[in-house]
Amino acid sequence: MRIKNFSALLGLALFFITKSNFAQELSMLPQPESVKTLQGKFVFSGSTAIVGNQDSVFAIATQEVKLLKKDRASGVSNKLLFVKDASLKPEAYRLRINPKQITIAVSDKLGAFWAVQTLKQLAGANAFKTKNTWTLPALEIKDQPKFSWRGVHLDVSRHFFDMAYLHRFIDRLSFYKFNKFHWHLTDDQGWRIEIKKYPELTTVGAWRKLNNQDSACLKLAETNPDYKLPEKHFKVINGEKLYGGFYTQQEIRELVAYASAKGIEIIPEIDMPGHMQAATRQFPWLTSTGSVQKEKSFTDPICPCKETTFEFAENVFKEVAQLFPSKYIHLGADEVEKSSWKNIPECESLMKRENLKSIDEVQSYFVKRMEKYFNSLGKKLIGWDEILDGGVSPTATLMYWRTWVPTAPKHAAEKGNYVIMTPGEYCYFDAQQDAHSLQKVYGFNPTGFGLNANEQQYVLGGQANLWTEYIPSEQRLEYMLFPRLLAMSDVLWGHQQNFETFSRKMDQQFAVLDAMHINYRFTDLKGFAENNVFLKSAYLNIEAPKNAVVHYTTDGSTPKIGSPKYIKPINIDKTQTVKAAIFGANGRMGDVFTANYVQTDYVDAISLNHPKPGLNFSYYPKFYKVVNLIAEADKTKTATTAAIEIPVEDKAASFATRHKGFFYAAEDGIYSFFLRSDDGSVLKIQNKTLVDNDGMHFAIEKSAQIALKKGYHPFELLFLEGGGGYTLQLEYSMGSSKRKAVSAADFAVE
Ligand code: ACM
Repeated sequence: MRIKNFSALLGLALFFITKSNFAQELSMLPQPESVKTLQGKFVFSGSTAIVGNQDSVFAIATQEVKLLKKDRASGVSNKLLFVKDASLKPEAYRLRINPKQITIAVSDKLGAFWAVQTLKQLAGANAFKTKNTWTLPALEIKDQPKFSWRGVHLDVSRHFFDMAYLHRFIDRLSFYKFNKFHWHLTDDQGWRIEIKKYPELTTVGAWRKLNNQDSACLKLAETNPDYKLPEKHFKVINGEKLYGGFYTQQEIRELVAYASAKGIEIIPEIDMPGHMQAATRQFPWLTSTGSVQKEKSFTDPICPCKETTFEFAENVFKEVAQLFPSKYIHLGADEVEKSSWKNIPECESLMKRENLKSIDEVQSYFVKRMEKYFNSLGKKLIGWDEILDGGVSPTATLMYWRTWVPTAPKHAAEKGNYVIMTPGEYCYFDAQQDAHSLQKVYGFNPTGFGLNANEQQYVLGGQANLWTEYIPSEQRLEYMLFPRLLAMSDVLWGHQQNFETFSRKMDQQFAVLDAMHINYRFTDLKGFAENNVFLKSAYLNIEAPKNAVVHYTTDGSTPKIGSPKYIKPINIDKTQTVKAAIFGANGRMGDVFTANYVQTDYVDAISLNHPKPGLNFSYYPKFYKVVNLIAEADKTKTATTAAIEIPVEDKAASFATRHKGFFYAAEDGIYSFFLRSDDGSVLKIQNKTLVDNDGMHFAIEKSAQIALKKGYHPFELLFLEGGGGYTLQLEYSMGSSKRKAVSAADFAVE
């Protein structure tokens, strides 16, 4: 799920690191299309001559190579030759390394630039350390991206990131061969782009008192300093300390030029007609009522029925268009609270005049009229997929995000609209992470979603989106972005192999991320549940990545670098809490993992007279925030299911389910249950809550153990879908057996 007004997305997250027995394996990410290794090595250094680079096609690649050569002294004489080959596609390159010469053949400047990034990838962590030469393996690479849109989005409104950081951000995107930066510059919480015609947008609209999202961050900062709002983003204005910031037009021009030299096009988004409170606070005449209303689901939008609105919007976009050379401008147009447009005279007359049948068509009128204006500026319009509602123009490009409208990409592509895929389930990196997150991103298929071969041609590519309501600092931003961004890079470049290979390469990429001083999230510690039981004694066996350093405590305190180091399974012989964390380069601590242990007895089984296969399933098509609000009176369907299935064809946008019956324990033992859901779920065994994964949240896993006697045990699983796409998975293991999904053999009803 993702609905911006829901704030319950945060919680304890876990981490891990992958194993590597394949040190020699080339760890390039994204994976090139074809790689042939040859005999020998090439020493890249300050002495490497650059030749054949006269054509302007090689300009940014040359600039990059010169930067890389700096401070890498050696007496070795060799060269890097640039060659033009018009037969190569845009962004494609051929790279040949032999002991005397590197040859890069391309037809365009991006191809040349990506070839140089591949050299950096081959150098690994060394690429980010000065004063050393690189030893590159001889090889031949043929490479080109599958998708022309490989984007990363950043919301700088909810929390602000300054120019110095954005330059570093661009460097990182470019190293992983992303070519688009979608800059979400305005939203309710702050206007970040200087507009000369309306200075109040930034002198006032860029600054705010702390809001409820800031308060949530500050609460979390009590245990995690990465949630602190940096002092550098506060300013005293008229005696009041306010949070915010903005970019001057000069700074924006500089970033655009910097990004362009790093292979990246910047696409600005000025989100309209909704998400406009940072402007409507100064200019309330932009709304239908002329005042800023209290929030409903979303803040009041600007009014598409008044000419003064278009005058404002056009003045804003005229300046925006001059700052950004990209052929695209993003109009947003998501999550619009259209109710304020109803029943005002201007809208009634607009609807009559333009023959608009619904309020959706009023929004469509706004988008289409803005598109014409964009076209007059020589630009194309991108909008979030809500631009389909009320009718879309054939030339608009759609950015798909609402996973719960699975037909949107198909509807757009059928009509011949280009689509950029950013479905929330795979691409929203503000979703908190667990042991499954990386693999989830890796499973993203931008040309899936029921598109046929013809429709797939309309997919330009995909993008990772980073909304920053709960991301107030650079540290937190990096934690959310890395390593998921590496999986996204592999997917969008399009020659990915499989998750196991990717995971092995990550081992070397973590060293690269360390060299770049990135606060990435460690790989999860695994092998245990959060809530555990034992009979007489137990061993806690932590599955840690091969070279990871893990420290732990047994007194409930947060582990420190001085806490005992985990080297062998920990013997548990009393009720206690173990906390463990990975400590990486420079003592950087990862997320704290907690394993609670309680001494217990077996729970007796129940005898059933006539056990029959299945579970009793109930369906409640209503919105509930937590499972104990589910009301039997709302039930509209019952069925018997074999295991955990939801046999309802046309599910409501929000619903709840209940599966009830008996779990069959095949032998006496300690059973671990792993419950993963989006949104909430609660597992009860023997009529007591065992796993509590309740509330509105993205897909996360919770786990717990219970000691069961052989036989039947009352079982109940409650689940909520708040809206926006759902996940419900239940797995278990017995003793030290491998975990597996529950199946028909595990359940019975009387
Ligand atoms: C969005 O997440 N509202 C595009």
